[in-house]
Amino acid sequence: MNFNQQSFIKKSSRKGLRFFDNQPVAEDILSEVIAGLSQPQKVLPAKYFYDEQGSRLFEAITQLPEYYPTRIEIDLLRQHKESIAKLVKDDVWLLEYGSGASLKIRLLLQAIRPNCYVPMDISKDFLLASAESLMEDYPWLDVYAACVDYSQPVRLPADMITSAQKLGFFPGSSIGNFAPHEAQIFLQGVRNTLGKDGAMLIGVDLQKDKHILEAAYNDCQNVTAAFNFNILHHINRILGTQFNVNYFEHKAIYSENKSRIEMHLVSTMDQIVNISDSSINGGESKNIIFKAGETIHTENSYKYSKQSFIDLVEGAGFEVRECWSDDKEYFAMFYLHCC
Ligand SMILES: C[S@@+](CC[C@H](N)C(=O)[O-])C[C@H]1O[C@@H](n2cnc3c(N)ncnc32)[C@H](O)[C@@H]1O
Repeated sequence: MNFNQQSFIKKSSRKGLRFFDNQPVAEDILSEVIAGLSQPQKVLPAKYFYDEQGSRLFEAITQLPEYYPTRIEIDLLRQHKESIAKLVKDDVWLLEYGSGASLKIRLLLQAIRPNCYVPMDISKDFLLASAESLMEDYPWLDVYAACVDYSQPVRLPADMITSAQKLGFFPGSSIGNFAPHEAQIFLQGVRNTLGKDGAMLIGVDLQKDKHILEAAYNDCQNVTAAFNFNILHHINRILGTQFNVNYFEHKAIYSENKSRIEMHLVSTMDQIVNISDSSINGGESKNIIFKAGETIHTENSYKYSKQSFIDLVEGAGFEVRECWSDDKEYFAMFYLHCC
């Protein structure tokens, strides 16, 4: 993914905010959705949870009593921000992958004082609103917001190729949405983006009791269920499909074999959903047939031991300089340096 200077949109009159738009286009989304739903185990990429509503639902999840990761990660950032600041250079740019509401970064900005903050997210309107709100509160900060799909290679625009150190920030255990071999490829790409002397701060959810994990993804208020259903609302909106969420149920289970939470949408009946869009892709059309009980696999969230994560990042060309975790070892924050 290139940051295309042509795609720069000056939507904000706010000084210091630049916005690059490389949001995935409907043709590509249609092809990905048809390919995923044509597999024996139907699958949809988790990135399609996130339109503006999906981003809001995720923020609501972070407030749930069952959802421990955000609270612990925020505590770790509060406790260790000064140590983190000592590890980075004075002249530093901060690049956040999947920045969402850009809330956690606020805990680091004062301590690190980066020359520029680059929030990257697929959820365009939410990204832009979050970047503008950040600039209200930190008027000294330059912000290059970029709507990108970070699962594709990210190449920085020419004016970002400065001698400043690049610090990547990837909180929320979003690394767990990749299978381990994909996570390694993703991290190799990040390492190339950050370049020589680059560093990375990354939050990782650790392996723990199955009941704690399953409760975190099956909350009593059904917010996670609403988030799961939103993938169908989002696809309906972009592709004009007619998935009826009332004919699906939310399911989240922990697979101990695979060390991952799996989220699914379970079809409650035999049904056929047509996916087509005559305005794009030459009228490609496909009927997706669901049997009652069949599922769409919507998300994986891999859980790591500290050692398995260290092995993974070392294989991607990083070395671990620090690792902080809470007393119960539920969640860890790693500070990595490009080798
Ligand atoms: C689990 S949320 C984490 C949000 C925030 N970083 C936090 O820690 O609370 C994942 C974020 O990554 C974004 N995201 C997910 N997949 C993405 C992709 N392939 N490319 C860019 N952004 C993505 C979502 O829009 C969302 O804001």
